[in-house]
Amino acid sequence: MTSNPADDRAFRRRLLTHVDTLAPTVTLNPDRPIPASRQHRAENAPRAVAAAWVYMSCVAAWAEDHDLVRPLMRRAPDGLTRAPTSGTVWLGRAFEQLARHPATQWLLHPAYQPALWAGAPSPAACTTLIDWWADEAPSLAYPATGTAPGSITGWPIGDLLPVLHDDRRTSNALVQTPYWVADLILDETLVPAVDEFRHERLIRTIDPTCGTGHFLIRAVDYLWRWWTTGTITSRAVTTRTPIIGGAALPPAQAANRILASVDGVDIDPLTAAVARLRMTIYIGHLLAEADVLPRPLRLDRIPHTILPRIAVGDSLLVGRISRHEYAQAHPALASLPGAAFPLDDFAWPPEPDTPQSNTPANP
Ligand SMILES: C[S@@+](CC[C@H](N)C(=O)[O-])C[C@H]1O[C@@H](n2cnc3c(N)ncnc32)[C@H](O)[C@@H]1O
Repeated sequence: MTSNPADDRAFRRRLLTHVDTLAPTVTLNPDRPIPASRQHRAENAPRAVAAAWVYMSCVAAWAEDHDLVRPLMRRAPDGLTRAPTSGTVWLGRAFEQLARHPATQWLLHPAYQPALWAGAPSPAACTTLIDWWADEAPSLAYPATGTAPGSITGWPIGDLLPVLHDDRRTSNALVQTPYWVADLILDETLVPAVDEFRHERLIRTIDPTCGTGHFLIRAVDYLWRWWTTGTITSRAVTTRTPIIGGAALPPAQAANRILASVDGVDIDPLTAAVARLRMTIYIGHLLAEADVLPRPLRLDRIPHTILPRIAVGDSLLVGRISRHEYAQAHPALASLPGAAFPLDDFAWPPEPDTPQSNTPANP
């Protein structure tokens, strides 16, 4: 493949055919039903489970295609053969490798991805899916061309999420911005901000509805260039002269500044988990390209200090209502592990009718 397979209609159709094949073979786990908010009708549960398994197989294939994990689907590890009866276990192992970093563990967390734990397709159906990835499916790796992002940015797995999880497109409007539009907006916002705040240690940015991180990844790219070369060039607004004269920092310092500068929030846990995976790997990749991390980059060797600040929450409500009110509006989000609220410097607004504790009693 030389371009994003998520743009290829035949490939998308094939993935949905796999969902059709897996769904009737799903055995539901009665101990872990999909919460009502996600599973609109009980009879949809097997299909939701199948879609979750097929989507995770895409993420695993993408990771294998970039040597980020040991190959388990694209080819069997040396000396091992896959028994047709062990397809479900093999897929489970391929998924488990994706969670071996503190920032990416959430991908497999039952609260982030309940459908993955709500049941499992049959071993034979999983083997058919693995065989397809091994023998027929296209590579999910392709290079950057011109200003178009390469696959190591996670663009294909970001774009495939709403393909397989249609409910995210219809109920959460998970329709993501093409890179050239993101660039145009960053050219008009981030680039002038870099010029104006060039002496600041951080250039704080946020995508409050970050999806799987298309904007975040592009912002990382821009800031990486600024902090490693001292120059930033607009990508879509080609008439603007580059901004020059910044300090060129060592790559590890640039990565730390980026991690403290580029924030994201999404209301959907799985979507945010994919964004965390993408940003962790992309920053790891930039550091490997700069010879700070060993190549080939492996997910389990990315330092645990690379922890993107991507929260799961309702951007319209966090900071505007009290913690108690937020828990009433979004009980599942309020108790979600790893949601990242409150951040160190975040204070919930006071509860209604509660005197502010920091108001002096006798001024
Ligand atoms: C149209 S997508 C945009 C994604 C990304 N910003 C981009 O441009 O590629 C909208 C995203 O906003 C999220 N979202 C919707 N309402 C939200 C809210 N109140 N707080 C945080 N995220 C929200 C959805 O889950 C979805 O992922």
